[in-house]
Amino acid sequence: MPDAISSLTRNADALSAVWRSGERTSLPYLWLRDNCGCSECRVVQTSEKRFHLFRVPGNLTPQQVGLEHAGSGDEAISIDWPDGHRTRYRSSEIRGFLSLPRLELHYWDGRFQPRRFDYRRFLENDHSAAELIEEFLRTGVCVLVDAPTEPESCEALAARLGPIREVLFERIHNVKVDPRGYNIAHTGLAVAPHNDFTSYSWPPNVQALHMLVNECEGGESVVVDGFGLLNELRADHPDMFDVLCAVPVPFRIFSEEHECYAVKPMVGLDIGGEVRMVRFNTAQMQAVPLSEPRLGDFYAAYHELSRRVNSPGAQVTFRLEGGQILLCDGHRVLHGRTALRSDGRRHLQDAYFEHDNVRNHLRWLRLSGRI
Ligand SMILES: [Fe+2]
Ligand SMILES: [Zn+2]
Repeated sequence: MPDAISSLTRNADALSAVWRSGERTSLPYLWLRDNCGCSECRVVQTSEKRFHLFRVPGNLTPQQVGLEHAGSGDEAISIDWPDGHRTRYRSSEIRGFLSLPRLELHYWDGRFQPRRFDYRRFLENDHSAAELIEEFLRTGVCVLVDAPTEPESCEALAARLGPIREVLFERIHNVKVDPRGYNIAHTGLAVAPHNDFTSYSWPPNVQALHMLVNECEGGESVVVDGFGLLNELRADHPDMFDVLCAVPVPFRIFSEEHECYAVKPMVGLDIGGEVRMVRFNTAQMQAVPLSEPRLGDFYAAYHELSRRVNSPGAQVTFRLEGGQILLCDGHRVLHGRTALRSDGRRHLQDAYFEHDNVRNHLRWLRLSGRI
C-alpha cells in the first residue's frame, strides 16, 4: 500500500502533514492554492496553469481543511478557500511533488572506455535510444558505430538529439588538415583535451564528432571527464577549486569573418553546488587581466588543473574509425587527439546539439509510453 497522509495540522501559513511512516511534510497555503489541479485553475485543453497567484491575498489561509478517504488506500486533502474555491490533493499526488528526480552521474578516469552503440538501432529503436541516452546522461560520453561515412549525415542524429545548435563558422564543422584553417585542429599537431566554443556564454553542450574517414597514423581520440577531475581537485584543494569558480577568464575564437568572445569562470556550479560546466580550452583562453586581485591564486589553480587534465591517468585514448561518432557532453567532457603521424586522409565533422533536447527526448519516450 502506498504511504498515505494520516493527519493534518493547521499552522499560521502552512498545513503540517504527517505520513503513516511518521515523516512530516509542510504544505504552505500559497503552494496548495497555486498548484490546484482543478478544471477552473487549468486550461483544460492543454493542462497549463491558468490560475494567477496575485488573485489571492499573500496571507491566504484556508476556511476549512479535511482529510478524506479516497479509495485504494489513498487519502485526499480537501481545502475550502475563503473565496469559495475548493482544492483537493490525493496523498499520492503530494508524494509525487516531494522532490525532483535526480540523476546519479558516473565519474570516470583513464581506465574507462566509452560504451559503443549501433547507429541504426539508436535511430530506429526507442529502447536502444533510451539506453544510449541514459548512458550519455550518466557518463557524458559514448560512441556510435556502423554510422554512415557520407558528409553531413550527422544531420540525421537530430531525430534523437533535437535540432542542431548552430554556432559561428560552419553549421557542421569540418576538421581536416587545412593550411588556411582557423584553429589548431586544422593542423597536424596534437590537440590537448579541451571543450569547444568556450567563447560562447552558453557553449554547445552536446557534441557529435563524426569520423568520415581515418586513414592516418596517429590522431587517436582522447577524452577526459572534466567533472570527475574537478571533483577530485575540489576534495584535494578546495581553495584552488573555489578560485576556478570565481575568477572570470576571457575566451576567444576568431577568423577573418567571425569573432566569438565571452568572459566566464572556468568552472560553473548549480545552485546545489555541484559542478555543471567546465571551460577548458588553452587555444581559446586569453590573458586574464593583471588587475584581477586573485591572479596568483588563479594561476596556481589553473596550473594544477592543466597538470591533471594532461596526466595519462585522466585520459581515455582510443581510435575513432571512419563511420564512428563520438558523442560528448560539451560542458563536461574534454576531447582531444594525439598528433597526426602521416598524411593519410582524415576527415572529421562536428555538429552540436543541446543537452536539454537529448534529456527531454528520453522523458518524452517515457511519458508517451514508447518505452
Ligand atoms: Fe574540439
Ligand atoms: Zn482550482
